[in-house]
Amino acid sequence: MAADPETTATNPTRMEDLVSLCARRGLIFQSSEIYGGINGFWDYGPLGVELKNNLKAFWWQRVVREREDVEGVDSAIVAHPRTWEASGHVEHFSDPMVDCRACKKRFRADQLDDIGPCPSREGTSEHDLTPARHFNLMLRTFIGASEEAADTAYLRAETCQSIFTDFRRIRETSRHKIPFGIAQIGKAFRNEINPRNFTFRSREFEQAELEYFVHPSERERWFEYWLDERQRFHRDLGFAPERLRMRPHEPDELAHYAKAAADVEYLFPFGWQEIEGIHDRGDWDLTRHSEYAGRDLGVTDEETKEKFVPMVIETSVGIDRTTLALLCDAFEVEELADGESRNVLRLHPVVAPIKAAVLPLSKKLSEPARRIAAELRRHWNVFYDESGNIGRRYRRQDEVGTPFCITWDFESEDDGQVTLRERDSMQQERISADGLVAHLRRRLEGAGGSEAAR
Ligand code: GAP
Repeated sequence: MAADPETTATNPTRMEDLVSLCARRGLIFQSSEIYGGINGFWDYGPLGVELKNNLKAFWWQRVVREREDVEGVDSAIVAHPRTWEASGHVEHFSDPMVDCRACKKRFRADQLDDIGPCPSREGTSEHDLTPARHFNLMLRTFIGASEEAADTAYLRAETCQSIFTDFRRIRETSRHKIPFGIAQIGKAFRNEINPRNFTFRSREFEQAELEYFVHPSERERWFEYWLDERQRFHRDLGFAPERLRMRPHEPDELAHYAKAAADVEYLFPFGWQEIEGIHDRGDWDLTRHSEYAGRDLGVTDEETKEKFVPMVIETSVGIDRTTLALLCDAFEVEELADGESRNVLRLHPVVAPIKAAVLPLSKKLSEPARRIAAELRRHWNVFYDESGNIGRRYRRQDEVGTPFCITWDFESEDDGQVTLRERDSMQQERISADGLVAHLRRRLEGAGGSEAAR
């Protein structure tokens, strides 16, 4: 019987096992580990960066390259400070926070349910909390030699603001008419009061954002269109459908800029949580930047000569959160028929960090096996491993989600065939070494991947 997703989701052991696997195999681990770590910051090791890059490449392929109506940009992390006044972040981008007078810890006032007992009070385990105050989440820095207030700048809290400030130049240089979109992937920073749940709530993270500019009369239609497109994207990443849902926002939870919004949510081991937001931002951003910069960001319809400020439909997905959701969705401790168990990451081939591992049965066979690995590396990220027994080598690949293992053995020397082992079923078949590239291409890229799967 299939496991109940809600029960699996609230199993904290699963999360602990996954976090430990990520550290043990160097996928994702605490930043500045040798100094005891830094709360809310994470590093991606060799396999983690491949996984994350594959996700970003898949997004870029779908949202930018496959479309005629979207252009990509890569803008600076630090923008003119007025940007953040215009966007409303200086005024509105804050969380209510409380401090415990006894243990000196700081909490979000709207997340007090699971803060645990106070370690510092006598006779009671309750925290001694101050009244709630607003705490701005933008990370600040200084530009130039002095540290005066006038030189304060912000690390961007979302990647989209430069898309709005660059809107006019990109529209003019790319000669797009409305509707069209501008997309960007990049780092964002928020001084979260309580970073938690591994990478889920971090202080430094990556977003992949699309701002799609439409005529005011078409905003509902495009909002619905992007809701569908984004659901299709997540389904194509292979998420279990019962662990994915779209949740429209209630009017009282809309962000200061949003007219309508919905979240793509994933059922993590710690419950349903947002991985992507889809917002109808209206004309808020372009109007505000027009006002603050004194530059007209409106457009004129060449045929009708109508002047208008485009409305913006935004899709904003967290790359780190989606990476975490992919890992949670793929991770399984599988009980095997022989009473043993194995860790397996059933990642979709399009995001799997390593697409194939070449494992000669004996070190004596390394020469032909290395030749095969070199040939496959021209197409995909391929791993070569000749140490240890073959069963253990298979397990090590299962644990990091490698879809295929290829074994060159003593028989291969005579018949030119290799053993191809598939990760999920663990089934093995003999195929000709000459046809390996074509065979893998069919199995890896036929699974919904494309150029991005490389
Ligand atoms: N431009 C709109 C915007 O930034 P958001 O809902 O605040 O909207 C979009 O953020 C996405 O960015 C979220 O769905 C989430 O995946 C990711 N995100 C936001 N805050 C994050 C954090 N502290 N840590 C990791 N990811 C975060």
